[in-house]
This record gives sequence, C-alpha cells and structure tokens, in this order.
Amino acid sequence: MDKMQGLKRSHSCGELRKAEVGKSVTLCGWVSRRRDHGGLIFVDMRDRSGLVQVVFDASAMGEEAFKKAESLRSEFVLALKGDVRARSEDTVNPHMDTGEIEVLVRELRILNKAKTPPFYIQDGIDVDETLRLKYRYLDLRRPEMQQNIMLRHRVAKIMRDYFDRLGFLEIETPMLCKSTPEGARDFLVPSRLNPGNFYALPQSPQIFKQILMVAGFEKYFQIVRCFRDEDLRADRQPEFTQLDIETSFLEEDDILTMMEGLIQELFAKAMNVEVKTPFQRMPWEEAMARFGSDKPDLRFGMELMDISEYVAGSDFKVFNTVLENKGQVKVINVEGYADIPRRELDGLVQYAQGYGAKGLAWIQYTAEGVKSPFKKFYDDATFEKIKEATGAKTGDLLLVIADKPSVVAQALGELRLEMARRRNLIAPDKLSFLWVVDFPMFEYSEEDKRWKAMHHPFTAPRDEDVEYLVADPGRVKARAYDMVLNGVEIGGGSLRIYQSDLQEKVFAAIGLTPEEARSKFGFMLDAFEYGTPPHGGIAFGLDRLVMLMAKRKSIRDVIPFPKTQSATDVMSHAPSEVEEKQLRELSIRTAVAKKK
Ligand code: AMO
Ligand code: AMP
Repeated sequence: MDKMQGLKRSHSCGELRKAEVGKSVTLCGWVSRRRDHGGLIFVDMRDRSGLVQVVFDASAMGEEAFKKAESLRSEFVLALKGDVRARSEDTVNPHMDTGEIEVLVRELRILNKAKTPPFYIQDGIDVDETLRLKYRYLDLRRPEMQQNIMLRHRVAKIMRDYFDRLGFLEIETPMLCKSTPEGARDFLVPSRLNPGNFYALPQSPQIFKQILMVAGFEKYFQIVRCFRDEDLRADRQPEFTQLDIETSFLEEDDILTMMEGLIQELFAKAMNVEVKTPFQRMPWEEAMARFGSDKPDLRFGMELMDISEYVAGSDFKVFNTVLENKGQVKVINVEGYADIPRRELDGLVQYAQGYGAKGLAWIQYTAEGVKSPFKKFYDDATFEKIKEATGAKTGDLLLVIADKPSVVAQALGELRLEMARRRNLIAPDKLSFLWVVDFPMFEYSEEDKRWKAMHHPFTAPRDEDVEYLVADPGRVKARAYDMVLNGVEIGGGSLRIYQSDLQEKVFAAIGLTPEEARSKFGFMLDAFEYGTPPHGGIAFGLDRLVMLMAKRKSIRDVIPFPKTQSATDVMSHAPSEVEEKQLRELSIRTAVAKKK
C-alpha cells in the first residue's frame, strides 16, 4: 500500500509515556473517539497496545491536512506522524495509561474508512450478546476483549513452557476418531470413502493419550480442542480447549503437586498473584454433605447442616415421610436475613423447586420470636435446639429442605450459591482452590436403570474396593480428582486401569457385555496386553481457567469465536444446510424437509 509510504510505525499507541516527550513518533491504529473543538480536533487513537490522545491543530499542520482530520470518523484506520508532548496538569487523564502525554500530529494518512459500527468499540458496553457475536470482529476490537485473548495466549505459553521444562512432549492426537459410548453425545462426521460409516470428533483425547503411555512416551501433554454435543451453559461450549496431561509411573500425589505448581506459575507470571500450595483436599462425600456440590465454592461459608434429629418424630407429615424414606432435613443459615420479604421467600420456593425440591420451608429467628411454616408442629424448645445446633442467632434465616440426600444437596447447594450472590457474600478477588477426591466410581442412572462411570470407565478403582466392583458398585471409590476454583470445576483426572482383566470387570459393572466392550474398545484392551505401564493424568478446561483469571462470567468472553446457547455461529452462520450433491457424496439423506 503506497498510502503508507514513509510512515513506518515507530511506537505502539499504548506504550507512550512521559519518557517519550519530545520524540517524533509514527503511530498506526483506529479512531476510537473524536472530539471536534473548532480549530482543534482530539482523537483517542487505538491499537492492540491501548489508547493515546492525538491532537490535530489547524494552526500547526496546514489547512489541507486539517481538512483531512475533519473527515475522520470512528474506526477509520490511520497512520500518523507527530511529536509527543506533555499534557498540562489540568488536562492529565489519570484513567489512561498514556494520560500524561499526547501526540501533536504533523502528518496524517487515512489508510481506510469504516462504516459506523453497530455498537461502541469500548469496554463495559451493554449490548445484546448476539449482536456482539454477529460482529465479533468489532467486539474483539474492544480493549477488554483484546486483554482476554492476550491473557489466553500467555496462559497457553506458560503451560507449554512449564511442561516442556518438566520433560513433557506435546503430541497431537486425531480429530477424526471412533465413536465410543459414555460421556456426552458425540459430534459425528460422515465418511465419504466408507459410506454409512461415521467418525466422531473427540470428546477428549482420553484413549489416545493412554495408548501413548503404552507406546512408551511417559510424559504427554497437549493443548487440544474437544467436542461434546451437550446442552450449553455459561461455562460449557460444544467445542472447548483442554490442557490434557498423561504420565506413566506417577501416583496421585505427584500429579496433584505438579498441577498445583502449574497453577502457581500461571497466576504468578500472568497475573502477578501469589497462590499458596498445597491445596486443600476434600473427599467427595464431605463436599456433598457440607456444600451440596462436588465443586464447592469455598469463598464463603453458609454450609449445609443436618437438623433431621431435631425434627424427627413430630406430627409434621412432610418431614416424617422424608425421614422414614431414608431422606434428610437440612438447612442453610442466611445470616441477618430473618426480615426477608415474604415475596422473596415465595420466589425461593420456586427456585428450589427448579432444582428438584418438592418444597422449601424456613425458620426466621426474629426479635418477636420464631416464624416458620411448621411452627405449630414443634414446641419452642425444639426451635431453640435447632438454633443452638446450627449456631443461628436472632435475626438469622434458616432455609430448610427435606428430601432424599441427592435432592437436598442439589437444591440447597444451589440456594446457598444464590443467597450468597443476593447477599453479596462473595469477595470478587478471592481465589479459592481445592481438590475434590475420593469420588464414587459409579453413579446409578435412574433413566437407564444401570450404573455409569462417574468419571470415565478407564478410571482405576481404589485397590481395597476392587472386590465390590460387581457385588456392590455403589461403594467403590475411584482414584479420581477434580480441581475446583471458586465453585467451577477447572480440571479433572484419575489414575487409570492398566490391566485388561480389571478393565473388563469395570466394563461389566457398567453393563457392557464382553462382546460390546470388544467392539467398542477392543484395540485398547489389545494394547493393554503388551506391557502397559501404570499411568494417570488430568485435563484442565483452558477456557474455564482463563475465564476465572479474567474475572468473566462466561467462557464465551475468552473464546475468540464461540457458539451461542443454541450452538450456532451467528457470524458465519454455522451450522447450515449443504448442497444435495454433498449429501449424495456422503451417502446421507436428511429426515428434515428443506427450508424454502
Ligand atoms: P473432563 O470431562 O472432566 O475430563 O474434562 C476436563 C475439563 O474440561 C473442562 N470441560 C469443559 N469446558 C468447556 N466446555 C465444556 N463443554 C467442557 N467439558 C469439560 C472442565 C473439565 O474439568 N479425559 C478426561 C480427563 C482425564 O481423565 O485425564 C476429561 O476429559 O474444566
Ligand atoms: P404442603 O404439605 O406441601 O402444603 O407443605 C407444607 C409446608 O411444608 C410448605 O409450606 C413448606 O414450607 C414445607 N415443605 C413442603 N415440602 C417441603 C420440603 N421438601 N422440604 C422442606 N419443606 C417443605
């Protein structure tokens, strides 16, 4: 482009400071904001590094050039040459990194014009996310989004350096794989050369990384895209990125310590934040009992407490029925909120029902006495005992749920998080890491009437539980671990089964016949016959980790081109219909009528 001739960028906009005062600089970038004061035009000019104020002064640059400056609009692309000068004390802008200086322009080139963008290219905009995603290139131009993507780069770089230093190899694994059961739904890819056959996109490189251990690589890592056709949430995308790890000859402690070291290094180098290790390790059962979650947010208390023993044996049918059926009655204490408005309480009942509870009750310990929907069934002494046992004080509100333990955990756990948000109990800068360990090996699926692997079926059971694999799968614990940060599961892994007979037993426990196991995982069982080392690993959700580091609420803010809640790309319009010819080539016919 000859337009730029003679104007070779010398500095980035955001790097200019007082030290550059007096220097002649050449800048390239976009018009962020323009203020016209008659013979004086101020432009905030933006490039990747940040913003700087540039000044066009009619008296300093000649009429012709000034005319050009008058034509500038938002998002025009410029190259300019000028002199850095200090701003007078009253015009210093403390909110800008470059706020102590400005650039007096001597020469201007307009490299390109721009249409008026559909939203302001600035931080903190309140714009419908669909519009942001449709014009993602403009959304990504906003400084905070650029920061997020740069942070993501730094995180990936630190990860690579860390594992390289520890002797790990980054090894790629296929994207076109064999479809295997368990886990989420697969994305399928039809094979043209093998009509009627499909590849699956990998939900994770799990099997391949284990095969790499059989192959003798000992220390594998990969920053890798994974694909899962699940219902989406703020922290779930159909394609997402894992930092995937597998090692031979290591035990739980080695792996957990190594991953804590990584976290420490990430926060130190990318955020200048010190993280203390080792992290707390909490058995799954304790996490469920105290926080109603396998990924507890430990930034605040409000733990679940069991009051079953105090409310048993009354005339209150709701509690009696639950307790007779091996259920429990548990509470959380929302401190200082006994004066909760009745309307909010009614809303909370619905909230709890949304998480499977049949109902919600409460005890308000007010200065005027106890208020509770089940007050008439108990004497004052009972409410006093509950008060004492839960440590509640006058002025506190207990929310009560009676149900089977899984429902109590789910509903009361969610209420705990919701009340913490409403009562502002979560310090935004607090980092709360923990490991959740001792997961059950299996969970029973009411839907399919069978046991399913809680983690995945390659996870090793604890040695002492192996004998119960068939007789009592519910009591078997896995050698699995999840890392949790601020209530988000950021990573999970396990030691693996490395003996084919044990692997076959676990397949049997989840209802796979030997024939089914053979047809799905035969190659893996075969591989295991040829000298498989003990091995184990973990995978981190890179998107989730960066989301938390960037203090964002959605992983979409740290993924350059994410999908919407309905798994579409509104910028490029994927997914879309394809030509009949393409389908024919793939030997595929769709059951959906073509839209016209
Ligand atoms: P898991 O299924 O727990 O384990 O996944 C590991 C981590 O990946 C992240 N994650 C996701 N992030 C965004 N969108 C999603 N849809 C999504 N699903 C998962 C989470 C999670 O902790 N192969 C095993 C790991 C192993 O055993 O080594 C695995 O994939 O942060
Ligand atoms: P019901 O008999 O369903 O009208 O319930 C009477 C009261 O019991 C309700 O107002 C609730 O306060 C309470 N309640 C009902 N179901 C539950 C439950 N599962 N857990 C806690 N409290 C409940």
